[in-house]
Amino acid sequence: MAGSVLAEIEARGHEQVVFFNYPEVGLRAIVAIHNTVLGPSLGGCRMRLYPSEESAIEDVMRLSEGMTYKSALAGLPLGGGKACIIADPKMTTGREALFKKFGECINSVSGRYITAEDMGTSVADMMYVKQTSKFVAGTDPRRGGAGDPSPWTAKGVFVAMQAAAERVFQTGRSLKGKRVSVQGIGNVGMHLLEHLAQDGAILTVCDPNAGALKEAASKYGAQVVATDAIYDVPSDIFAPCAIGQTINEHTLPRLTCKVIAGAANNQLSDSSVYSSITQRGILYCPDFVINSGGVICVCAEVTGQSDNTHWIKSKIEGIYDTTARVLDESARRGKFTEAVAVELAKEIIQAAKADKK
Ligand SMILES: NC(=O)c1ccc[n+]([C@@H]2O[C@H](COP(=O)([O-])OP(=O)(O)OC[C@H]3O[C@@H](n4cnc5c(N)ncnc54)[C@H](O)[C@@H]3O)[C@@H](O)[C@H]2O)c1
Repeated sequence: MAGSVLAEIEARGHEQVVFFNYPEVGLRAIVAIHNTVLGPSLGGCRMRLYPSEESAIEDVMRLSEGMTYKSALAGLPLGGGKACIIADPKMTTGREALFKKFGECINSVSGRYITAEDMGTSVADMMYVKQTSKFVAGTDPRRGGAGDPSPWTAKGVFVAMQAAAERVFQTGRSLKGKRVSVQGIGNVGMHLLEHLAQDGAILTVCDPNAGALKEAASKYGAQVVATDAIYDVPSDIFAPCAIGQTINEHTLPRLTCKVIAGAANNQLSDSSVYSSITQRGILYCPDFVINSGGVICVCAEVTGQSDNTHWIKSKIEGIYDTTARVLDESARRGKFTEAVAVELAKEIIQAAKADKK
């Protein structure tokens, strides 16, 4: 983060950023509410030992802005927000007290922010939050919650990949025979493999988790490579499904793919790689357009329709349409896909704002 916190708030257009400090339970948290025009801001709570306070602020600001665009493009009645707790995600002692206090913190913004799981937090943590706050989702499916959203996220990424492949390879919607490299086969990546294998794609995977690699090889016939080798594997589609910012000036020259489409948030190191991606003839599917399956699922919980799979499925299929629209608009205007997607999201928010007046 280059400037002051207030400069960052102004530049990104946040409505409210709140800092909480309760040392008696080890809670240092930031709640960033980016935009509430379409509805209450919703976004996961990330728990992490950040290298610095600055990096925590930057992370929560960037992710909350992304949530605004993600929910808008998915057609959800939600705004964008995110929270981070600066603490060791592996902590066991005192976890209940910490998350109950976090619930009280959320209450203080009066429903303008709804939390859920993210990296470092779990369904169990959200159940602690639920003891002190009603502004929480992603809770236990046995108690009316939406449960694990990853299968829906994977399905959304898969249909978006099909929309991209249709345009780039001109061989229809099917991914049969396409070489897909999946970076990270955790909750989303593994479900994605299932769709890809069913569709006849040829799979290569990497992950530090040996158990997951074994499963991918035996269940889906995936070829396994070392984590750093994934960039060099000849492929048609590269799917980042692990951590953020893996597409950068160092990795891009190694990629042979024609499409990048994956679940990870903030896949691009920064906007300076836009031109390199375009020059290399790669079609980039913006992460916040295609990984909204999770927030769709969580939205179903918030709006009391967790068991309405018809609604969830139609929204997930909508990711195909939105991706197609973004890619076509980008081609027509000669503008980078991510910039087009942000513009489209802002238009949706502006129209809603005008309607409210
Ligand atoms: N779970 C969801 O519904 C959802 C929704 C939207 C976005 N996302 C994003 O998608 C990504 C994957 O989510 P997830 O729920 O599957 O997470 P996960 O933690 O279950 O899986 C991530 C996997 O990546 C692996 N990994 C870590 N570093 C790696 C590296 N350098 N190279 C290869 N693999 C590596 C991990 O071992 C793990 O198996 C995350 O960036 C997440 O923020 C997830």
